Amino acid sequence: MKRETIWVTGCEGRLGSALLEWLSTNTDYKTIATDTDVSITNLEAVEQAVSLYRPNIVINCAGISDKSFCEENELEAYRVNALGARNLAIASNRVNAFMIHISTDDVFSGMSRQRLTEFDTPDPISVFGKSELAGESFVSSLNPKHLIIRSSWVYGLRKADASNDYYVQVLEHGKNNENFEAPIDVISTPTSAIELTRFLKSILETREYGIYHVSCEGACTRYEYAQTILSMNGYDPALVKPSYANKDGMIYSTRLENLMLKMTEIYTMPDWKEAMKEYVEVRKQRGV
Ligand SMILES: NC(=O)c1ccc[n+]([C@@H]2O[C@H](COP(=O)([O-])OP(=O)(O)OC[C@H]3O[C@@H](n4cnc5c(N)ncnc54)[C@H](OP(=O)(O)O)[C@@H]3O)[C@@H](O)[C@H]2O)c1
Repeated sequence: MKRETIWVTGCEGRLGSALLEWLSTNTDYKTIATDTDVSITNLEAVEQAVSLYRPNIVINCAGISDKSFCEENELEAYRVNALGARNLAIASNRVNAFMIHISTDDVFSGMSRQRLTEFDTPDPISVFGKSELAGESFVSSLNPKHLIIRSSWVYGLRKADASNDYYVQVLEHGKNNENFEAPIDVISTPTSAIELTRFLKSILETREYGIYHVSCEGACTRYEYAQTILSMNGYDPALVKPSYANKDGMIYSTRLENLMLKMTEIYTMPDWKEAMKEYVEVRKQRGV
């Protein structure tokens, strides 16, 4: 049987690196991996790559996920997260390829106290969330063979510069034994790129379409997230001090409910602390 070709964009990021690592050990697929060397914002470059590689599957892990950067650089955020997704949708549709696109819990406003399912209506307030929702909209309208995955607080090993990685920043505070603050009024779910990759593996076998929420189970505040990173890595969790990110007692909560996953039973995401234990071990084994 002819092997399918998968094109992974954003292959040096947290998710892209984890996915590539799994694909490199898998002989069922031929893998093409690009990062900023093929900018997804350039339609001509994207079209050329598709003509050259003729992928059967395109997995878009490229994006700008730094929320503060997006607020300060609106044009660039939309260019990568919306236009880039559009370009990949156009090009993948032209060669009849299945497109998998990664999006975010920030397509929701954070005002809901409930867990958010795939059937809740997005209402983003941040530039990041709005640009990601625009990307989703392009993908769903321009390539009917698509899967949109919304996840949250993704952590994983990055090949590229890790200075903007929250997990690494917290570890640095731990190593330097220095106090820092993390908000107790921001709630979501840390999600391991290793687990997201396992989910993607099952998707490649089952070919599901539509929108899937794929976060680890459970939820925590950003403060608890930081405390857990510290304690699981042998640092003093008291180094992190509680702070507030919002005004007037508001709580920003974007807890995703993996309802489609639970209905289709294609994969079960673990509890976020269990997934983090595995990641801590992986980092130790690699000496990072
Ligand atoms: N991290 C999270 O908490 C989170 C949560 C929900 C959803 N997501 C979404 O999930 C996807 C993967 O997340 P991640 O955490 O793996 O992201 P990441 O670590 O930031 O990786 C994204 C990769 O895309 C690259 N990239 C940026 N602009 C590009 C362009 N124009 N063309 C091609 N590549 C480009 C980045 O390169 P540079 O590093 O050089 O810019 C980086 O290597 C993103 O779409 C992100 O928005 C992330």
